[in-house]
Amino acid sequence: MGVRVLVIGSGGREHALLLGLSRDPSVTDLHVAPGNAGTAAIATTHAVDVASADAVVALAREIAADLVVIGPEVPLVLGVADALREAGFATFGPGAQAAQIEGSKAFAKDVMAAAGVRTARSEVVDNPARLDAALDRFGPTWVVKDDGLAAGKGVVVTTDRAAARSHAAECLEMGHPVLLESFLDGPEVSLFCLVDGETVVPLIPAQDHKRVGDNDAGPNTGGMGAYAPLPWLPDDVTRQIVDDVVKPVAAELVRRGTPFSGLLYAGLAIGKDGPAVVEFNCRFGDPETQAVLALLRSPLGQALNATATGTLADLPPLEWADGAAVVVVIAAENYPGKPRTGDVITGAGGEGVLHAGTALGSDGQVVSSGGRVLGVLGVGADLAEARVQAYERIDAIKLPGSHHRSDIGKAALDGEISI
Ligand code: GLY
Repeated sequence: MGVRVLVIGSGGREHALLLGLSRDPSVTDLHVAPGNAGTAAIATTHAVDVASADAVVALAREIAADLVVIGPEVPLVLGVADALREAGFATFGPGAQAAQIEGSKAFAKDVMAAAGVRTARSEVVDNPARLDAALDRFGPTWVVKDDGLAAGKGVVVTTDRAAARSHAAECLEMGHPVLLESFLDGPEVSLFCLVDGETVVPLIPAQDHKRVGDNDAGPNTGGMGAYAPLPWLPDDVTRQIVDDVVKPVAAELVRRGTPFSGLLYAGLAIGKDGPAVVEFNCRFGDPETQAVLALLRSPLGQALNATATGTLADLPPLEWADGAAVVVVIAAENYPGKPRTGDVITGAGGEGVLHAGTALGSDGQVVSSGGRVLGVLGVGADLAEARVQAYERIDAIKLPGSHHRSDIGKAALDGEISI
């Protein structure tokens, strides 16, 4: 009997998950809530408030889902996975307590300290009167993080003390504690691992491009593009990340009685002393997932189901295509500020175009509805070929006022990244 899967979320990550699931012969029926214009072409769309556990459980019941896959962090942190499991649904994604590894940066630091994992020195500031003295204990460079969920945009990394202070003051004014961190030098790696208790299965490593502009200019975003695998990262470093970072953290969460089940995303900087954690996320990364899953040859549904049902240790080793994948994000005018929305997009139906901030207009046209609008994939025998394909595909897409980076994967291709 075929597997009926419900995917929760509406971004490029969820489009990539649905495409991966649609390639798994055991998956016969795909549903998505709330989805976007691109996911509507491959899954049945349900307009549901995905932050409401009751609404998601009711939908899972209505469609008799065999597996529910939760993409974004917000429903995970709010306990939607707990509610689904209590209602008897196999669910991919951690419960609210384990999701604190992303939901609270202070919690993540505490887990890492207990697990003996290298990470930046940090201090939480929740009182504006203590901000200046705390800033004096860091920088330059200053790393200032909103200690909550901020879709990747709550982090400011700057050599300008005034800019660091102003971001911290803004967070404090909103009533959010601020995390100050020492700056971790070295190229960044996103390593996604399927985790079921103490069982850890890594996917291939990827690298995100977080700044809005070419050559890493401008403010941080949710991610402007990514590529995988990383030609400059030796396999033994990936193994070291699994053994010295992800496994100890998974074990510490088990020890605390809040085992992690789902996708644990380790964001690391590879410095001269080895890998150090920049952040953990409790879900697949966006846009890295789009590049990583483009190379997965094993059935995705089987891997997610094994994680959700506590049988990950029995999953056959994952198989990957040779070559490389690149995803380039097309962003709306003014992103990462308040994006302009409602523009008509043409050419977004082609192969390798993953939708993120899109919706169907009343006349059936595809229109922009968010900051990161599309992710355009390129896959090839190597990074050079993958980049050529992605940028050729972009040429066929029109979105007024949009912008994208022209250098995704370029530094790696040019041999400019080393550890
Ligand atoms: N690529 C960054 C993130 O998913 O948080």
